[in-house]
Amino acid sequence: METKLISVMESEIEEKDSLLREAGEILKNGGLVAIPTETVYGLGGDALNKASSQKIYAAKGRPSDNPLIIHVADMESVEKIVTGVSTQARKVADAFWPGPLTMIFPKAEIVPYETTGGLDTVAVRMPSHPVARRVIAYAGGYVAAPSANTSGKPSPTLAKYVMEDMNGKIDMVIDGGEGDIGLESTIVDMTVSPPQILRPGYITKEMLEELLGEIDVDRTILRNDTGDRPKAPGMKYRHYAPKGELTIISGSQDAVIEYINDNARKAMAEGKRVGIIGSDEAIAGYVGDSVKNVGSKSDELSIGRSLYRILREFDEENIDVIYSESFGSEGMGQAIMNRLLKAAGHQLIEV
Ligand code: TXA
Ligand code: MG
Repeated sequence: METKLISVMESEIEEKDSLLREAGEILKNGGLVAIPTETVYGLGGDALNKASSQKIYAAKGRPSDNPLIIHVADMESVEKIVTGVSTQARKVADAFWPGPLTMIFPKAEIVPYETTGGLDTVAVRMPSHPVARRVIAYAGGYVAAPSANTSGKPSPTLAKYVMEDMNGKIDMVIDGGEGDIGLESTIVDMTVSPPQILRPGYITKEMLEELLGEIDVDRTILRNDTGDRPKAPGMKYRHYAPKGELTIISGSQDAVIEYINDNARKAMAEGKRVGIIGSDEAIAGYVGDSVKNVGSKSDELSIGRSLYRILREFDEENIDVIYSESFGSEGMGQAIMNRLLKAAGHQLIEV
């Protein structure tokens, strides 16, 4: 299949409206289109068409028990695919939609089990990205979209990474530039009381608590030794895995730099290529084949935005061993650490 790559930046949606209309038509006809969102690129298909969902799983090489998120552009659409929107869910929607948040609801009958991975619940998100919103509307209102990466790779934050993984497998890729957030949406299960965070993201526990009071967090988010199964089926897979072996080092800045440099030198002496993920504050102190500044510890948004790109760059550079600093576990730091720990297979060393 020939994959058509088009470019539509936020500022161009009016002049390039006919291209977005074409994308909507492809989706309506059962095709697949990768779309930019404010988090990461999504691999879109018509959420109410089981054949489209099956195609999504095939293109990603994703196990079909791992449910998809349905993207909508307005509240009326939400009401058609769930059995009811609770007062609490409505509050969350009012506060954070459109935006980087996904809620789990009991599903309505029209949602095929192919889309929900066999579950009776459905994940729904209303993205804020204007390109995504327009394509969803032109597609008829319901776009199932997992991250547009091959299963097991970091989620794509740039269209070129979508093309790397999906060229020849899907009908169209819309380049909309780099997403603002760079990490996937927060997922909160509204079918349980108190509501429970299944995947941390830009919308934090603290932000949800301010609105709703008590919020639970799935214990498996920052630990792999709880013996529990993650509640979001996708969280059990080793996601976001770079080719190089990644270890996270936690401790005081000086101790971390010393430990990483000692180990980097040893690995390089053995002929291995070493990559380092450092903060802006510490970056000048590192020695390695590829030392990358992930952003400032005082601006976690910048770290979230760069993380997946850096992991992909290490793959391109054939890095064998990667050391990363550790980041805070509160707020947005929780989302960053959750993704980093998964990429590292939970290898974390305290120094
Ligand atoms: O930011 C995002 O959410 C991006 C963009 C494209 O919107 N999408 C995304 O989708 O990250 P995906 O498929 O890569 O991750 C969806 C996660 C998976 O871990 C999946 O198991 C979980 O959501 N999920 C989906 N439906 C669920 C349900 N009914 N119950 C529990 N978890 C669910
Ligand atoms: Mg994903």
